[in-house]
Amino acid sequence: MEQRIKELTEKLNYYNLMYYQKHTSIVTDFEFDKMLEELQNLEIKYPQFKQPDSPTQRVGGTISKDFPTVKHKYQMLSLGNTYSEEDLIDFDKRVKKGLIDADFSFADIEYVCELKFDGVSISLIYENGLLVRGVTRGDGVQGDEVTNNVKTIKTIPMRVDDSQLGTAFEVRGEIFMPKKVFEEINQEREDIGLEKYANPRNTASGTMKLQESSEVAKRKLDAFIYFYYADNIPFKMHSEAVETLEKVGFPVSNTYKKCKNVEEVLKFIQYWDKERENLPVETDGVVIKVNRYDYQNALGFTSKSPRWAIAYKYKAESIATQLKSVSYQVGRTGAITPVAELTPIFLAGTTVKRASLHNANEIERLGLCENDYVFVEKGGEIIPKVTGVDMTRRGLNTNTIQYITHCPECNTLLVRKESEAQHFCPNTKGCPPQIKGKLEHFIHRKAMNMDSLGEGKIELLFEKGLLRNIDDFYTLTYQKLFGLEKIIVDEQTGKSKKIGFKEKTVENILAALQKSKEVPFEKVLFGLGIRFVGETGARKLVEHFENIDNLAKATLEQLSNVRDVGERTAQSVVDFFKDDENLTLIENLKNYGLQFSQTNENKIIVSDDKLLGKTFLFSGTFLQNREQLQNKVVTFGGKLGTTVSKNLDFLVAGENMGPSKLEKAQKLKINMITEKEFLKMIGETENTNQNLKENSPKNSFNNAIQGGLF
Ligand code: IVH
Repeated sequence: MEQRIKELTEKLNYYNLMYYQKHTSIVTDFEFDKMLEELQNLEIKYPQFKQPDSPTQRVGGTISKDFPTVKHKYQMLSLGNTYSEEDLIDFDKRVKKGLIDADFSFADIEYVCELKFDGVSISLIYENGLLVRGVTRGDGVQGDEVTNNVKTIKTIPMRVDDSQLGTAFEVRGEIFMPKKVFEEINQEREDIGLEKYANPRNTASGTMKLQESSEVAKRKLDAFIYFYYADNIPFKMHSEAVETLEKVGFPVSNTYKKCKNVEEVLKFIQYWDKERENLPVETDGVVIKVNRYDYQNALGFTSKSPRWAIAYKYKAESIATQLKSVSYQVGRTGAITPVAELTPIFLAGTTVKRASLHNANEIERLGLCENDYVFVEKGGEIIPKVTGVDMTRRGLNTNTIQYITHCPECNTLLVRKESEAQHFCPNTKGCPPQIKGKLEHFIHRKAMNMDSLGEGKIELLFEKGLLRNIDDFYTLTYQKLFGLEKIIVDEQTGKSKKIGFKEKTVENILAALQKSKEVPFEKVLFGLGIRFVGETGARKLVEHFENIDNLAKATLEQLSNVRDVGERTAQSVVDFFKDDENLTLIENLKNYGLQFSQTNENKIIVSDDKLLGKTFLFSGTFLQNREQLQNKVVTFGGKLGTTVSKNLDFLVAGENMGPSKLEKAQKLKINMITEKEFLKMIGETENTNQNLKENSPKNSFNNAIQGGLF
């Protein structure tokens, strides 16, 4: 057994390394999960054989009551900051003078420029190649030991080949939340009516403090390593250390560059000022390090920071403008968001008229008064935010902004739960923006996917009294819709345009409504807009309860036992089904023919592994419904690709496939097969039809068989 545990550990760690560092899948997710499950079961049975670098630690499972304080072996210093090119030229001069004083002779100093990643710094200690400890910066002298949380970060190796690094060494880097993950988490939070997180940095920092490591694992943090420490450093230069770290499998950002002199440093800074927007991680500057270790040692440290490195910080574009008033937006879930109405001002390419103030606490923190001049900044998000008040321009008569007590839309008394920062309007059924928000949510792409009802049409139908609840969508008829029209003004551009229900529009809407009756249950459930039930939550509930009747009957306990469904969500589901109006709504929707149970097609059962390890993409139109075909890929153990790339094994070409896709697939020599050939692969030939293209493209399935792919 010990042997099998070791073998699984080694294999899974290798697959992880290849996947996260080299972006290559050696096994399918399915195979990987099966092996991981086997290992987990073996480790439970034979805990004595569990390996210290076991990949089961990646999914978490430990609970840390509190994090022990650990003293850093090498103090974690911070860096001096500069904001100007002049400061950097001065830094270069200081470095040169320092080296001359230390009797070095040189022509130019080589620097290494790296991006300054905006996350939380971490120190990782390796002994005999094994990751033994991960410690936060803390106050620089001592920090929190968060090893179990660190181990959930899949790009951080738990074991490395230390032959070039030494038996005891430390690396430092930045743990961060990739921008995409942050957006996904916030989207999910918005969907279920939770307040959005402020920025990726704070979210990463908060995540590392979570006590349950399985929760940390779900947040998909990542890391970049930029520093190596040991008692006897076996390198001459920082760049050699970084190259070695990269080679043995540490996540090193490939954005660093050796610069021969300060002019090249300035070029690096200019280049990344714009380009950094395209990186997956937030950056707030550039770190410039003297490359040679003997120079670093000669320059030494001040009490706070090294003399051989400096951080250049990019200026966030910020500008002051006058506050005209504060308005309050009411969201779908009744959440109130205060918005600063500003004297229009030009900032980073656009005119800004409004900026988010987040919540009442934020207004209080800013100490915002009427007519104040406020600083407005554009962060990662599109909506600018108010970052501060220009106190030098505050007038004598100051009236602080009083937060509203009643809903600006329906005048209901607002409520604010103890643990929440946001105020809510509790009038969920009568408050117009909440009703419209629910209608908008229902037609959303991720729910019923009825785009043709977007762009102000819901607003118009609401005003005409045709829509009050989501079942009203299915009472719409040609006669009711045709001829309705309205002028709407775009808030951003100020331009007005007419929306109207002409013949084609009405036809499209009615067709979309008809088609929505095929939308699978999990999306319908998400579309109902039950508070806290997001896309993932809806999927989990459907997988577990299969139909709405089971779900409606479920107890709080049964609901809380579903994986990934928290107590708050469970309570919200129970409350939803206690409400008679909601029961009537569901009854009506059932009668209109919407899906309220999981159909077999949507159930993903891996019944066979004929397509194991193969990735497919469908393009064009098919005889069978495309979603059905895609489900078949998954059922037979295959994977679905999203674009034409070299990672695809098969492109299933339907009628009218786009010419650019075709060209790209031919260029990349991807196997192209017909629908019929695809069905043959899974042994389903009886459904085929003579209308299918008989002349399959050159690299067809038959060639693939001959080529020994199967
Ligand atoms: S080097 C002794 N390199 O910035 C110098 N730091 O103010 C050690 N940071 O605490 C730091 N990216 O959290 C270094 N490429 C990079 C960095 C970086 C981000 C952070 C780090 C550090 C702070 C320095």
